[in-house]
Amino acid sequence: MDDNEYGFVKKRINDLLDIDLDNYKERQMRRRLTSYLERANPPDVGTFFNNVEKEEKMLQELKDFLTINVSEFFRDEYQFEKLETVILPELLENRMKIKFWSAGCSIGAEPYTLAIMMEEVMPGLAHTIVATDLDETILKQARAGGPYGQQDVRNVSPDRLAMYFRNEDGKYWVIDKIRDKVNFKRHNLLSDPYEQNCDLILCRNVVIYFTDTAKSKINRGFCNSLREGGILFIGGSEIIFDAAQIGLGVAIPSFYRRVPAGTSPKTAKMGPAN
Ligand SMILES: C[S@@+](CC[C@H](N)C(=O)[O-])C[C@H]1O[C@@H](n2cnc3c(N)ncnc32)[C@H](O)[C@@H]1O
Repeated sequence: MDDNEYGFVKKRINDLLDIDLDNYKERQMRRRLTSYLERANPPDVGTFFNNVEKEEKMLQELKDFLTINVSEFFRDEYQFEKLETVILPELLENRMKIKFWSAGCSIGAEPYTLAIMMEEVMPGLAHTIVATDLDETILKQARAGGPYGQQDVRNVSPDRLAMYFRNEDGKYWVIDKIRDKVNFKRHNLLSDPYEQNCDLILCRNVVIYFTDTAKSKINRGFCNSLREGGILFIGGSEIIFDAAQIGLGVAIPSFYRRVPAGTSPKTAKMGPAN
């Protein structure tokens, strides 16, 4: 795909889907789009986008391809165990009310995992879970609390599956008590205003294809959304290279803490010294 064609593709995608490809790593995105178009095999790119504009199914397929909304409950069990045993006990200490934000929540598996965990760790504690995603279609499934397939729940223990899900014709749905704990909203991390006063933000496996500039802007936004001492929970394969400049320090791997202005990022670390 040459520069002219890529420029055209970027414009059409931005107009149709509100996805600004300038924020995505260009070489990778060009390669992916080239093979996508080869598979679709239209007479030319203009015709392809005219068809996409007319056909809802094609539009959704393109959106799914670009946003990669793969998710599952208790994704990366090890990290969720750290959340439950190390991060949450400290965050919840002496607090009457807690606010969580799952950004790029896809089908809702991530915020519902958190809701299940809160039910077990602190059933009585007042808390808000806001969950956002760019993709309104995927949010419909999330809001409904299902249906989820076997793959989506493969990390859920049999006890939790029996307690927090109902099975209808081989598909799983979270029970109403868990479903009602999460408030889903459409939100574009690259252009919409951010939540405020968060205690914990989860943004996992969302920014991996973004440029460093876009990642930095998003992480700065998250830092401002966190109360001092609040935690940003990222994906297992992700690292925030400019954390210190942004005002974040590593609490434990995959968990960054907003450090008070003027203090060393080292104060972010978990442990008795803090
Ligand atoms: C791979 S899923 C991650 C889901 C979940 N966080 C997890 O780790 O299982 C990435 C999600 O990010 C969403 N996303 C991509 N770009 C976004 C943006 N600019 N603003 C908000 N959400 C976005 C996609 O729609 C998709 O649902």
